[in-house]
Parts: sequence; C-alpha cells; structure tokens
Amino acid sequence: MTSLSPRLQAVVERVLPGQPVADIGTDHGALACALIREDRVPRAIAVDVATGPVGRAQDAVHRAGLGARISVRLGDGLGPLGPGEVGTVVLCGMGGATIIRILEAGRDKLGAVARLVLSPHTAAPALRRSLVAWGWTDVDGCLVEDRGHVYSVAAWERGSARWSEADYRWGRHVRARPDPLLAAQLERERVRLGAAHAAAQSGREPGDPEVEALALALGQLDRELVRLGCYSSSSSATRGAQLNSPSRSSEGVAVDSGLVE
Ligand SMILES: C[S@@+](CC[C@H](N)C(=O)[O-])C[C@H]1O[C@@H](n2cnc3c(N)ncnc32)[C@H](O)[C@@H]1O
Repeated sequence: MTSLSPRLQAVVERVLPGQPVADIGTDHGALACALIREDRVPRAIAVDVATGPVGRAQDAVHRAGLGARISVRLGDGLGPLGPGEVGTVVLCGMGGATIIRILEAGRDKLGAVARLVLSPHTAAPALRRSLVAWGWTDVDGCLVEDRGHVYSVAAWERGSARWSEADYRWGRHVRARPDPLLAAQLERERVRLGAAHAAAQSGREPGDPEVEALALALGQLDRELVRLGCYSSSSSATRGAQLNSPSRSSEGVAVDSGLVE
C-alpha cells in the first residue's frame, strides 16, 4: 500500500466524511483509493478525461480490491456525474483556469454538492474570485509543502464572507493564522516581483501601466510581509529597494499568478 503525498493527504482531510465523493482528474486513482480504504466516504467516483489515466485508476482500484465502491469513469469534468450522486467534488493537480472551466461547464451538476476541495497548481487568485462570485466561500484552507513545491488546498462551501484583495491573492484561511510557509513563499515572491518591477521600469515612461501594476502588487506584498512580522513598515522601503535591484535574478512573474504556482 503506497502512502499518499502530503498534498493529497491534505485533500483527504478536507473531504466531507460519510458522503460520496467525486475525484475529477483522478489520474492514478490514489485519492479515491485512500478515501475508501480509510472508510471516510461510502463511495467514490474517479473521473478523468484521458484514457491513460482512466486505465491507471482502474488498475489501482482493481489491485486494491475496491471495485465495488469506486466507479472509474472517462469524461470531461463533471460530465460523467449523475445529478445528486456526490456530496464532495475534488479537483486537484490542475491549473486554476481548467478548474474554473470545469466548474462553470458543470454548474447543473453542483446542486447537491455541499463541498468542493480544490488545489490548483496555478491561477489560485482567479479561481478564488470565480468561486466567490458564484456564491461559494472557503471554510478551511492550508499550505502544504510537497517535494520542494508549496501548494494551497482549500475546502469551499456555499456562503459568503468578507474577502479583501489580499485574501484573493493569498487565500483567506491561509492568511488568518501564522504559517511559516506563507512567509517564506512571500519572501520568494518579493524577490521575483521586485526584479520584474526593476526590469520593467528601465526605459519606460513614468505611469506606464505595467510598471504601475507591478508597483501596486509590490506595495500589497510589502504590507502583507509587514503584517506577518517579516519586516517592519519602516524597513520595508529600504528592503524593497534592495530586492528591486536589477542584479537579482528574475524568473518572470505574472502579477495575478498568486501564491502557489
Ligand atoms: C496532474 S494530474 C493530477 C492528478 C491528481 N488529481 C493529483 O492531484 O495528483 C491532472 C489530471 O487531470 C486530468 N484532467 C485534465 N483536464 C480534465 C478534465 N477537463 N476533466 C477530467 N480530467 C481532466 C488529466 O488527464 C490528468 O490525469
């Protein structure tokens, strides 16, 4: 029996116990197998859009002897789900834009779904904005380090809450409690964004929209670092200037790319 990665374990812990679950984009099927093996849910539906992963998931389910409780289905997004079949939908290990598209296309399948457990690899802020616009709010969330990457994992239910711009950018629940992973991630983001800002500034007119957007994003990042106690507000300008130095390496940055990419 293979043990789950820390990322998938964080997903498992956020699935509603006692209700059937759908794992969309299941690939290896490990999540569905773990949920059933641990008896957290009565049944699981493992969906993938590609035949290779469906075959892999079928093999995993067969090897684990869990065929009676896990249905592996080929199809796009929520398409293979019947109405009211599951209480939790999991979408993890995909880009945020793909998750948005799947949820939008499958709105008619979400009626009886009480919880979404989501872990996007990219575009987490855009995903958060879409979910809030559709009437969902996060009820739990965390950052997880897994093989050198930091991932966000969050559970969403229907409801509303106050969302600040910083909440959209880094995650409401993640920001609500001290997390060394968040501080470390923001420090790295500060270096990348500072270098991108410095590079964009050279040869541009004052007021250039891209430079302005990067400056705005940097200001928000500095305020967040101060809020987390990473540096004082008086030192942030100096530190910002140091981090903006063009001699620092730049991996390129998209302002709205979010924390966990
Ligand atoms: C990187 S794997 C992630 C596997 C697993 N969820 C995890 O987090 O470890 C992404 C999987 O999503 C599947 N996928 C991508 N788009 C999909 C869609 N629209 N509907 C269903 N599955 C999809 C891919 O075929 C692939 O197997």
